[in-house]
Amino acid sequence: MSKILILPGDGIGTEIVAQAVKVIDSLNSNNSMGMTLVDGLIGGIAYDETGTPLPEETIKIAKECDSILLGAVGGPKWEPLERALRPERGLLGIRSELELFSNLRPAILYPQLANASSLKTEIVSGLDLMIVRELVGGIYFGEPRGVETKDGERFGINSATYYESEIARIGHSAFQIAQKRGRRVCSVDKANVLEVCELWREVMEEVSKDYPDVSLSHMYVDNAAMQLVRDPKQFDVMVTSNLFGDVLSDCAAMLTGSIGMLPSASLDKNNFGMYEPIHGSAPDISGKDIANPLATILSVSMMLRYSLNQGELADKINSAVSKVLDKGYRTKDIAFDGDKVVGTNQMGDLVVAELET
Ligand code: IPM
Ligand code: MG
Repeated sequence: MSKILILPGDGIGTEIVAQAVKVIDSLNSNNSMGMTLVDGLIGGIAYDETGTPLPEETIKIAKECDSILLGAVGGPKWEPLERALRPERGLLGIRSELELFSNLRPAILYPQLANASSLKTEIVSGLDLMIVRELVGGIYFGEPRGVETKDGERFGINSATYYESEIARIGHSAFQIAQKRGRRVCSVDKANVLEVCELWREVMEEVSKDYPDVSLSHMYVDNAAMQLVRDPKQFDVMVTSNLFGDVLSDCAAMLTGSIGMLPSASLDKNNFGMYEPIHGSAPDISGKDIANPLATILSVSMMLRYSLNQGELADKINSAVSKVLDKGYRTKDIAFDGDKVVGTNQMGDLVVAELET
């Protein structure tokens, strides 16, 4: 019996999470999963209802649950708010409060969607790479930070900081994931310029000694960005800091041509996790029943695999999604001429129907 906190958030969050909930309901009825769902608030909607993007109640419930499923946060409505009250703060806050330091962002190209990529098919077909991003440290959280006045003008400051223990734990995550995949880790840094990255590189080397079966290479982040676009299939697992991971994971996601397809996991040291699609709240298309719910449905699959120890059910969801694509069904974002275009709701129903056959 597992308890799941559902945080739909803002924009398309509500619609896509509703489809993932249909999948969970189906697993409960047909596979005796016994997952209990609890609803919670985060992001702009939480601000509207409680005055803060991350109510204490949400953290309290999260700590009593086995896993979290999140939709997306943010929207133009909340942009004028001061920084501490913006929806994104809710997301950064929950990651940090729950110490979800290990962010797994797979970039997988579905063969059915090869033509959705902006790169040539032969460069991307069969792409299956995993970005492991450090999520609760680095320049996102480092002190000092802020904007002040110095020498008579405004002066902005953020600090890229890492303790060796923070680098080591994300290193271990990456090596352990690589052991279950292609056994290659590429650590991405900017050690030619930044001292914090020199330490990063040293610690990665030390951690790698515990994993003689996995090879470790290093790459500077500028080169890594170029290599991702030049020859992405050279990578198996990429491990990197919070900011570099933010940038590189958007780039990797777009290689697949379908950011609406990619799930993610954010794990703590006990594999407690928050699962969410890689994409944002897409306010421009919210409420129109056109958003792609597959990344959120695939986030449920990641949850089953990484936190709930149900690898077989995870595979079942992945194959249901694949079959729906095989049959030519597409939401608008991934549709080409000749595809059967369906809405958010119908896509959810199609996956459930495939799961139940
Ligand atoms: C992401 C997002 C967030 C981040 C934003 C919304 C705070 O871009 O999850 O990649 O920068 O981490
Ligand atoms: Mg990002």
